[in-house]
Amino acid sequence: MADSWEKLKRACAGCTRCSLCQTRHKLVFGVGREDAILMLVGEGPGEQEDLQGEPFVGPAGKLLDTMLELIDLDRSKIYIANVVKCRPPHNRDPQAEEIAACSEWLRRQIELIRPQIVVCLGRIAAKTLIDPEFRITREHGVWHERDGIFYMATYHPSALLRDPDKRPEAFEDLRAIRQELRERNYY
Ligand code: URA
Repeated sequence: MADSWEKLKRACAGCTRCSLCQTRHKLVFGVGREDAILMLVGEGPGEQEDLQGEPFVGPAGKLLDTMLELIDLDRSKIYIANVVKCRPPHNRDPQAEEIAACSEWLRRQIELIRPQIVVCLGRIAAKTLIDPEFRITREHGVWHERDGIFYMATYHPSALLRDPDKRPEAFEDLRAIRQELRERNYY
């Protein structure tokens, strides 16, 4: 297993499958427990993540840490990755070709971690992993089972920074995640 991770990290580190490699400072592979029960998937690195090579280390990351704390979790207990591993310029949405070019890395991460629960942070991750037609305002908090993994999407922390009125709904989603983890005797 360790061998597979090393191979994957090495292959991904030099990725030139899309043009985002030309503008990245650091590729952001992902961090956390490689045997995590819960995996979070964001959209793609922002400015700070691109500079530091770690997911969710900017302002959205601070809010994500608070969200995790609310359900007695922290980064050491979970795995965090993104749909695209390199920063889209000016934080624009990743394009379909970029998501497709990057999809093998995320697929392999999910295969190796074999999480029981995957939480998509925001619309882009939900469209990529749950349903291309996903509507975050309508479908956040809803569980979808696929190949033995339970997927759910909630609002992206950046959306919650922009629109604090959405925070109570996101909190309900977090409670549902905690409940699901409890049922799996995680706590
Ligand atoms: N937004 C994301 O979707 N991912 C990060 O790593 C940082 C901000």
